[in-house]
Amino acid sequence: MFSHKIDENMELRLLEERHAEEVFSLLEQNRIHLQAELTWLTDQLSLNDAKEYIRTGLERFAVNNGLRAGIWLQDHLAGIVSLHGLVWIDRKASLGYWLGASFQGQGLVTKACRVLINHSFDGLKLNRLEIQCDSDNHRSRKVAERLGFTQEGVLRQSWWSGDRFLDLVVYGLLASEWQAGRT
Ligand SMILES: CC(C)(COP(=O)(O)OP(=O)(O)OC[C@H]1O[C@@H](n2cnc3c(N)ncnc32)[C@H](O)[C@@H]1OP(=O)(O)O)[C@@H](O)C(=O)NCCC(=O)NCCS
Repeated sequence: MFSHKIDENMELRLLEERHAEEVFSLLEQNRIHLQAELTWLTDQLSLNDAKEYIRTGLERFAVNNGLRAGIWLQDHLAGIVSLHGLVWIDRKASLGYWLGASFQGQGLVTKACRVLINHSFDGLKLNRLEIQCDSDNHRSRKVAERLGFTQEGVLRQSWWSGDRFLDLVVYGLLASEWQAGRT
């Protein structure tokens, strides 16, 4: 199982089915905050949907095709980070993340992403990571930039948000750049 202690208060742990209630209640409480960016988060989200969300992350992990980890502050779930879209032949993948609104502004996602980046480059020997986000999502863009990702392009009108097409900014980070930043 994937888990990583970041400091005495903060830990990443692979999401398991027993966490479904916590995932569901964090999503429920933050529906308005998250809905603009997480289009799968519908008004009808149920506990079963939260279970399914966890199951797909576990299935990914079981076949070495990514993971979905909870960001835990002591025993409180603050948000999620994920590694997805793995293409082994190209040794690349994407990072995703979200936080409950009250957990923003503390560097939690930046710290959690650093762990997934180390895991991706050192553990899985990937060569490239991507983050894609809505061009108006300034907080998410700052996460990518703070981590040293390079803005590589804009996919114009690439994402249907439910009421309009949004531009997606593509950020990339290479293993060599991450290693160079560590020296
Ligand atoms: C995107 C999202 C995860 C960013 O959250 P965030 O709190 O800004 O990001 P972090 O947890 O990395 O925290 C960074 C903030 O904490 C501050 N901070 C405090 N201590 C820090 C530390 N040790 N390290 C880094 N940053 C720290 C930073 O200065 C920054 O604050 P600022 O943006 O006001 O300058 C959050 O806004 C969110 O969940 N949005 C909705 C879902 C979403 O958009 N997901 C991404 C889809 S692409």
